[in-house]
Amino acid sequence: MTDTRDALIDAARDAASRAYAPYSGFHVGAALLLKNGDVVTGANVENASYGLTLCAETTAIAKIANEGWIGELAEIAIVGGRPEGDALIGSDAVNPCGRCRQILNEAAERSKTDILVHCASGDGSAVTTYRLSELLPAAFGPKDLGMIPD
Ligand code: THU
Repeated sequence: MTDTRDALIDAARDAASRAYAPYSGFHVGAALLLKNGDVVTGANVENASYGLTLCAETTAIAKIANEGWIGELAEIAIVGGRPEGDALIGSDAVNPCGRCRQILNEAAERSKTDILVHCASGDGSAVTTYRLSELLPAAFGPKDLGMIPD
């Protein structure tokens, strides 16, 4: 269990090294664990028109959706911090923003799983694990549109 968590956090930290974040300087990586054990990653992609920034969780979810795997999500790890050489610094765990919680909920409902969300600091010293339902209680999602078959 902890091995899975730590491997996912390592994958998210590696993904953060590929962030495109020249404006904030804050690099975020997300690693999605699929039900078959595969890991798919994403990192934040900023834009000169700041409001168009794509979060790491969003880029990762877009990748699985585009592959036809939106119903295969089991867990996610998120790591964020400021790069210093090859390392990420920052001792506060990064929590997913509100928009990302909603985007994660789409995949979680389709996956029929109240996914684990591991939130880690850049330096790895802090990790907090939630269920998505704790981060986004009473969510609106595909089930509310009658889209989740039994
Ligand atoms: N960011 C994410 O990638 N995910 C989140 O859930 C929170 C914020 C990114 C967006 C922006 O590029 C940088 O962190 C600073 O806000």
